[in-house]
Amino acid sequence: MKGVVLAGGTGSRLHPLTRVTNKHLLPVYNQPMIFYPIQTLVNAGITDILVVTGGQNAGDFLRLLSNGKDFGLKHINYTYQEGEGGIADALRLAEHFVEGEKVCVILGDNLIETNVAEAAERFRRQERGAHIILKEVDDPERFGCPELRDGRIVRIEEKPKQPKSRFAVTGIYFYDGTVFEKIQRLRPSWRGELEITDVNNMYLEEGTLTHSLLEGWWTDAGTFESLRRATNLVAETGANKVTQAAPQKAKP
Ligand code: DAU
Repeated sequence: MKGVVLAGGTGSRLHPLTRVTNKHLLPVYNQPMIFYPIQTLVNAGITDILVVTGGQNAGDFLRLLSNGKDFGLKHINYTYQEGEGGIADALRLAEHFVEGEKVCVILGDNLIETNVAEAAERFRRQERGAHIILKEVDDPERFGCPELRDGRIVRIEEKPKQPKSRFAVTGIYFYDGTVFEKIQRLRPSWRGELEITDVNNMYLEEGTLTHSLLEGWWTDAGTFESLRRATNLVAETGANKVTQAAPQKAKP
């Protein structure tokens, strides 16, 4: 399975911190933000990785990550997103790299306490479709939020004013090779972006979307508040632990 880290966008919610650098290069406790999602992929046994970046500081990623020796990798692939057309717009740049295989996509500002090795293993065995990972949160209105019925997802809403559950769809997604054909069918949302939530809803309509729940903490780091939270969580408990099995209670 291939891995894609999405680290484009302008990080405007973190201005002025992101005026002269890319959000994913900012520190989260003792490491640059992008180290965490890369480590998440590596801990799930995914070592063929593409980093999608953008903006004015793309060269800094190469200087920082080189060929991935900090993660025990021999090579990292890079590509460049023009503008900030959304998560699905960034993902479509990975089509030539994924070559029809399964892929694990992780947002460059998503950090976890444990690992997704079990979810990855489950998805390797899943014949087709997609797998997403949910986490109960205090502020589901900030995220993609699933409506659940009898433990099954019936719909996912992006940043709903009135969330239908207490869960967030984390920024760790597993897709089969049909994801790029689905992205082609997307239309920009009200915020002018190609939304990953619309992709997940397409899999849902197809009846091929599975999900699991994440053990341990999860956070994004794209706002001042969540960046502080991420820093505190990493400092207090550490991130990317490999000893503990991560997702449980998998549902068909
Ligand atoms: O963190 C999980 C949430 O991430 C999900 O629950 C939401 O469904 C999903 O839409 C996303 O929400 P955000 O609004 O927080 O995403 P944001 O615009 O902050 O982008 C998250 C990452 O995606 C960012 O760190 C880099 C990457 N990205 C984003 C955009 C808009 C790109 O690579 N290119 C882009 O154009």
